[in-house]
Amino acid sequence: MEQQNNHPTPESIMQIGTGFWASKILLTAVKFQLFTKLAEKPGMQAAAIKTMLNLKCTDRNVYDFLDALTTFGFLSRAGMLETAVYSNSIDTDFFLDKKKPSYIGGMLEMMNNRLYGFWGNLEEGLITGLPQNEAKYGGDLFSELYADPDKLHEFVNAMTGIQMGNFMAFAQQFDFSRYKTLTDVGGAAGLLCLMVATHQPHMNCTSFDLPPVEPIANNTIQHFKLSDRVKTAAGDFFESPVPPADVVVMGNILHDWDEETKLMLMKKAFDAIPEGGAFVAIEGIIDDERKKNAFGLMMSLNMLIETGKGFDYTFADFNTWAKKVGFKSTAILPLTGPSSAAIAYK
Ligand SMILES: C[S@@+](CC[C@H](N)C(=O)[O-])C[C@H]1O[C@@H](n2cnc3c(N)ncnc32)[C@H](O)[C@@H]1O
Repeated sequence: MEQQNNHPTPESIMQIGTGFWASKILLTAVKFQLFTKLAEKPGMQAAAIKTMLNLKCTDRNVYDFLDALTTFGFLSRAGMLETAVYSNSIDTDFFLDKKKPSYIGGMLEMMNNRLYGFWGNLEEGLITGLPQNEAKYGGDLFSELYADPDKLHEFVNAMTGIQMGNFMAFAQQFDFSRYKTLTDVGGAAGLLCLMVATHQPHMNCTSFDLPPVEPIANNTIQHFKLSDRVKTAAGDFFESPVPPADVVVMGNILHDWDEETKLMLMKKAFDAIPEGGAFVAIEGIIDDERKKNAFGLMMSLNMLIETGKGFDYTFADFNTWAKKVGFKSTAILPLTGPSSAAIAYK
């Protein structure tokens, strides 16, 4: 969002300032499962969509909602107003049809149901430095969320949605030739292990997470028919060591915590791997100049909302911590969009 020339223009100010309108239109469409329904029955008229979604607003409101989604590129439309028929775009059909394995709407469902409201308190978060979610009045995020099975499932599905592309890219691009075993710490539904086992047939993987998450991971593993090479381990990384492996991964884990806990977790990873082993953090690593990766910076503020003390970081920060812990060298592997794998070798 850097200024391109010396002439002031209100364009990006207004685009960002009204950004929550666009965001809420997409999140509402996901909540209504519009893309799932249109995948089943493409080419629907607005009136039929209105009836299908049980909307009591005016026809004009429905046209506006659907045409806004069309201008964003999320629907395709032939005709106009009364004669219009709507279908999914290529992207929404692939990624937002809940019946397809490529569905990534879990994160958007959680954005709508939790984060949209919590982000309304960003000012309060900045003023107080306190989380603005279920843990606002005490407790920690994970015990608050995991006490409610619906929220537990929604959270784990959201993690799958946001990291799927990165896990696929990492599983294919990282050099696994020297390694045989991997532990994914805070592995949620086990997706990283499953992607690695799929693309690297010589690898055996363990998804390590808190006990309430284990049955969800086991279900996913069975679904992928990879239970011979992907296992789960239930535990708490504050209480126990990281299960030993040649490669230890933490996807969106370090950013949940303050610097002291980040270092504690990196030390546990260091202790879990052999000489030559690798520790990998998969996150929206912020560029060293802190000028380009807007997603990483916003994710870092999302950690204020969600955990209070957590924050995202640059590769330079990662290098400093890796050196402190005793790793020999580091590397960075860009994954999808704003995310990368920061790698430290022992
Ligand atoms: C932000 S999610 C990231 C999930 C996944 N790695 C990813 O990249 O999408 C954090 C994960 O850490 C797990 N976690 C939180 N505290 C933990 C603890 N004390 N011990 C083990 N896992 C923990 C959570 O259950 C959750 O699955």
